Amino acid sequence: MPGSEEKPAKGASKIVGDYELFATIGKGGMGSVYKARQISTGRVVAFKVLPPSNAERPDLVGRFRREVRILLGLEHENIVRGIDSGRVGNLHYLVMEYVEGKSVSAALTREGHFDDKETLRIMFDVARALAYAHSKGLIHRDVKPQNILMDPDGVIKLCDLGLARAEADTGFTMVGTKLGTPKYMSPEQVAGSRSIDARADVYSLGATAYHMLSGSVPYDAASGTVIMAKQVSGQLTPVRQMVPDAGPGLAAVIELCLEKKPEDRYQSMAELCADLRLIASGKPPEKAKVDPAAAPARKADRVGRSARGRGRKRSRGVLIVLAAILAAGAWALFWGPLKEYGDAVKERLLPGSGETK
Ligand SMILES: Nc1ncnc2c1ncn2[C@@H]1O[C@H](COP(=O)(O)OP(=O)(O)O)[C@@H](O)[C@H]1O
Ligand SMILES: [Mg+2]
Repeated sequence: MPGSEEKPAKGASKIVGDYELFATIGKGGMGSVYKARQISTGRVVAFKVLPPSNAERPDLVGRFRREVRILLGLEHENIVRGIDSGRVGNLHYLVMEYVEGKSVSAALTREGHFDDKETLRIMFDVARALAYAHSKGLIHRDVKPQNILMDPDGVIKLCDLGLARAEADTGFTMVGTKLGTPKYMSPEQVAGSRSIDARADVYSLGATAYHMLSGSVPYDAASGTVIMAKQVSGQLTPVRQMVPDAGPGLAAVIELCLEKKPEDRYQSMAELCADLRLIASGKPPEKAKVDPAAAPARKADRVGRSARGRGRKRSRGVLIVLAAILAAGAWALFWGPLKEYGDAVKERLLPGSGETK
């Protein structure tokens, strides 16, 4: 996270080409992101490097180069801007606009959850950014709170297109490489489907919104493998069971994003944006079916709630029991639905493959 997690770069500041690196601001699956200064212009930038130790790995170099190519070709106010890229010796780097602020993940750690209004706003901005990426034929494939940054004015910047690829570019190329966290992964990605499309990002954005609104991910467990099994066959705790006073429209939209089968979800980000726009203007969504039994949430409750008073503590005991039952059931249900996908899937899901980042 930029700001609070800043540490001096090891061994004082380091010069790489035209850049002076002075603090690590993030560490992910591939390498590190530094806050840096471009010496020739003096501007502050974010500098992402694939460390030399990973430069031996053709899969990681390929992923890094792809991210560079993709980011430098996109221009959207809600996607972090790529500035430059290069290579010094066997060190590959990508230079981006520096987003001063925090990730949604860091904000969630601090605040627990967001209210309807903030959840809706972030969801809408990310959906717009993704609609743009999709219009360029790109699927992000790793939408999650860690990859959504917020600048001090609250402007949303989607980052980390390291797993992004063109819709037509399919196959099991991610087998054996570090995957994103399973907590926001669509069932078809878990299953290693050959036809990942925009609807996988719809699911991950739905999982992200569920987390933002309720303070909990849709499916959790100690093991990444069990979480993945739940993405495929676990039963979702309805949003309003987690957050009784959440707006029924927003709850219905999030649940529609989280449908197991891609054909049951929003079919595009444009469809999702249309429903979010309706909710923002106080109307019910069109595509998502609002539960007629759901009492409309009182407006006063919907904005600026605190983590207390949402009935979450009360239902925690029930949830723990449910989670235990689900965890046991997940194993029973696990291999059945996945069998049809064959051995390649099993290979991906073997425990300890490093996917629980
Ligand atoms: N442009 C940026 N400005 C500020 N912080 C950034 C920027 N890009 C990335 N970060 C921080 O670094 C972290 C890791 O970057 P990311 O691109 O997601 O790498 P990885 O592919 O390793 O996950 C992010 O979660 C974020 O906290
Ligand atoms: Mg990341």
